Parts: sequence; structure tokens; C-alpha cells
Amino acid sequence: MFKFFIKKNKKEKLEDKIIKKIPKHVAIIMDGNGRWAKKRNLPRIKGHYEGMQTVKKITKYASNLGIEYLTLYAFSTENWSRPKQEVNYLMGLPEKMFSSFMPELMENNVQVRVIGNVADLPDSAKNAINKAIEETKSNTGLKLIFALNYGSKLEILNAVKDIVNDYKNDVISLDKISEEIFSNYLSTKDFPNPDLLIRTSGEQRISNFLLWQIAYSEFIFTKVAWPDFTEEEFYKSLQEYQARDRRFGGLNED
Ligand code: FPP
Repeated sequence: MFKFFIKKNKKEKLEDKIIKKIPKHVAIIMDGNGRWAKKRNLPRIKGHYEGMQTVKKITKYASNLGIEYLTLYAFSTENWSRPKQEVNYLMGLPEKMFSSFMPELMENNVQVRVIGNVADLPDSAKNAINKAIEETKSNTGLKLIFALNYGSKLEILNAVKDIVNDYKNDVISLDKISEEIFSNYLSTKDFPNPDLLIRTSGEQRISNFLLWQIAYSEFIFTKVAWPDFTEEEFYKSLQEYQARDRRFGGLNED
């Protein structure tokens, strides 16, 4: 059983509650921006704009809670098939976001990282991301990892090609290729696997996200659309995670 303690004072902030078993790494599929906007008769891009505000809110909250890694699925390799206007808007978001969010990222000691094929993004997006990575590289707190132009199958395929190359060039022998070594060929090699994967907006699928890395992650699917995902919702997900019994294929110790 998990234990956590809530002070009697109802006015206290959620951060003030003592939470045990905080996941080290939380990954989020930020879904439902389009439907959120449609429900309000707004253009889809307004949903993405609000989604960006949620990114800021949840990043600060995760940092305050002491979560060490937060990976956000911001643009998949499949998202290029969306209408041009929407893709253009999404490509403008990194610049929009970092131009206003950088002081808070610094204040919160957050380090920005990225996974996915950034080289193929438009220059403005690429520059904004590289600038944010550079400016925050000495920060030692939360690692905020954006999955941008990311697809897990492609990531795995590229890892296989790199391993084959290293094998051909006698850098690695066949008997040395273990799960651990394979993980080092993935774009996530610097990060532990996610403990918790959250997907918002009621869809219950993985959509080509971190397929190798989530082998033993806990999944939480919430009906709340990403623009409506609040600190309270995040906190509820963490509570649910804390109640889970993670056995990694083994038996419970109790
Ligand atoms: C999915 O909702 C969301 C996305 C494809 C984009 C998510 C991006 C952000 C929230 C902003 C990220 C910020 C940066 C800096 C890149 P959807 O459009 O698929 O929603 P729907 O399923 O309701 O249509």
C-alpha cells in the first residue's frame, strides 16, 4: 500500500503535500487540443496555443514536485500529414514558447532536451530549440524532453542500422549486443525509462511513442483534454501511479 499524508489545512497548495514514490520519469502524450478547440467553435490552432500554456504549467509543477524527467510528445513523424496551416502553426510553437518561457525555465533550473529528428524541422523551430538547449545546458533540475518529429519505429530502425554498422566495422561483437547496449543506440540513451506514461483526451493507444522504453511503464489514460489538464489532474495521476504495484515481471515482496 502506498502512504501519503495530507495536512488538514484545505488552503494549502498541492505541492505542500508530502508525496511518496514520486516517479522519476513521466512521459505524456499531449492529446485532445483539436477536439478541445472544436468543442468551443475555435480553430484547431487555438487548441495548440492553449496546449502550450499547459506545457508551461505542468513543467513548473513537475519541477516543484521533484520529478527528474518529463518527456512530452509534441510532434510525431506522422503529424506532417496534417493540413499545412496546422503544421506551420505547430512548427512556430517552439519559438513562441521559448521566447516567453525561458526566464521561468532558468528560475526553475530546468534543462531542455529533445528527441526526434530536429535536423528536418524548419530553421526557425530548429534555432529556437537549439538555443533553448544551449541556454539551459548547465541547469541541473528537471530535464524537460520534447519529442519533436519523433517516431519510435524509426528510432528503433536507426538504432539497428547503427549497430549493424558498428558490427561491420568491428566496433561491437554479436555476443556483446544486450538490451542495455541496444538502449545506448536510442535517442533516449541519457534518460531512464519512463515510470509513468499519461495520455490525455480519452484515446487509449501509444501512437508510436517510446515503444522500447515503456516496456514496464505504468499507463494512465485520462479523459481530460490536454488544454484542460491542470496541476490537480496531474496530481491525481500521480496518486493513481502511487497506488499501483510495480513488479517488473517478478513477484511482490510483501
Ligand atoms: C495532439 O492534439 C497534440 C499535438 C499534435 C501537438 C501538441 C503540442 C503542444 C501541446 C505544444 C507543444 C509545444 C512545443 C514547444 C512544441 P490533437 O491535435 O491530435 O488533438 P485531437 O486529437 O483532438 O485532434
